[in-house]
Amino acid sequence: MIHKPLKLPNGRVIRNRLVKSAMSEALGDKSNNPTNGLINLFSRWSKGGAGLLITGNTPIDRKHLEHAGNFVLDTRTDMDRAKKLASAAKSGGALVLAQLAHAGRQTPEAINNHPLSISDIRLNLPGYGKPTPATDADLEVVIQQFATSAALAKEAGFDGVQIHAAHGYLLSSSLSPRINTRDDLWGGTLSKRAKLLLSVIQKVRAGVGADFIISTKLNSSDFQKGGFSHADSIEVAKMLEREGVDFIEISGGNFEAPVSYQHTAKNERTASREAYFLDYARDIKDALTIPVMVTGGFRSVSIMNQAVSEGSADLIGIGRPFIIDPEFPEKLLNGKLSAAPSIERDFSPVDKLPRGAALNWFCHQLALHGVQGDSDLSIPIIDGHERYLDTIKLLTNRITKVGD
Ligand SMILES: Cc1cc2nc3c(=O)[nH]c(=O)nc-3n(C[C@H](O)[C@H](O)[C@H](O)COP(=O)(O)O)c2cc1C
Repeated sequence: MIHKPLKLPNGRVIRNRLVKSAMSEALGDKSNNPTNGLINLFSRWSKGGAGLLITGNTPIDRKHLEHAGNFVLDTRTDMDRAKKLASAAKSGGALVLAQLAHAGRQTPEAINNHPLSISDIRLNLPGYGKPTPATDADLEVVIQQFATSAALAKEAGFDGVQIHAAHGYLLSSSLSPRINTRDDLWGGTLSKRAKLLLSVIQKVRAGVGADFIISTKLNSSDFQKGGFSHADSIEVAKMLEREGVDFIEISGGNFEAPVSYQHTAKNERTASREAYFLDYARDIKDALTIPVMVTGGFRSVSIMNQAVSEGSADLIGIGRPFIIDPEFPEKLLNGKLSAAPSIERDFSPVDKLPRGAALNWFCHQLALHGVQGDSDLSIPIIDGHERYLDTIKLLTNRITKVGD
């Protein structure tokens, strides 16, 4: 099943069901343009066999980076570099989407002391400042920024964009009644909480036309008391389908509830244990006619095939294995491997590691791909974690912080 091409509602065809999900690379140069390291990595991934590649978090606004070193798509972007990135990502036959995002209250304090958010509710973690609640005019600017970045992605040669509305960033936080406490046009009922996201989709579609792919990454739930619920997610997915989104990617959680990249035990063999959002995604898929991509934990070919054949997922989103072995999709497709590499299953449980260590080890490996052309799996987890924190400090030092 994973071999089968998929035709999207707008007629574009993805050559197979394996998708590289977004993974923030920190491989932008000091003006946030793609480095050669990033371009080469996308070329390698494209030749590695996946049907579709999605870039890491690509901010639409330099004051709201997800972290220093992001590749930014705005009117200051060097379009020659952006074109090189898109062309490299397509060089092996994959399609490529730019994941457009506004980090909102999850913008690090080292970048912006008072980032724009849907309310003034601060992230309950060290290193994030008290946000500034957006005015109507601010939100109109954000909607326009998404449309501008999508138009630039099209000009650069990307096949489409993914609007990031998961993981607690601005569009995701706007959906959450826990964070979006507004009682104006943009908050209150679910349709008002979804207004910002839907307005972004409408404006982007109006600018890029029907044949450019628009995807949305959406939480199956925030997994927080009083947050965006699974029932809310099903309703928002239906709204997105009505707005002409080509496919929805299902994930979950945010910085306070970091459940998007779990590491399951080595001996888990059931589909819903391995692919931990699959049961949620099935409910969402049942409510839709557009394709659904599910990301999180997929490793075994048998479980991927089962998810597609039983109709729980149309596209299989995969992250961390692309860092370990950029060519694994080809090996799955030609039967050389029966499962994607899952080095994270050898790590200690997340609660026995320093906060962020498991994720930061992978981030460091991504950085190594950019700097030396490959990962180095011999690096111990704590070393990788610490080296990544040093890298981010260096990258942060070269940018000008916003507002004190
Ligand atoms: C290093 C790293 C960076 C990530 N960056 C992003 C990102 O920029 N945008 C996003 O939507 N998800 C991001 N994710 C989440 C992945 O897209 C994916 O949902 C998650 O890793 C689970 O899939 P996996 O089990 O196949 O790794 C990141 C994950 C990792 C490990």
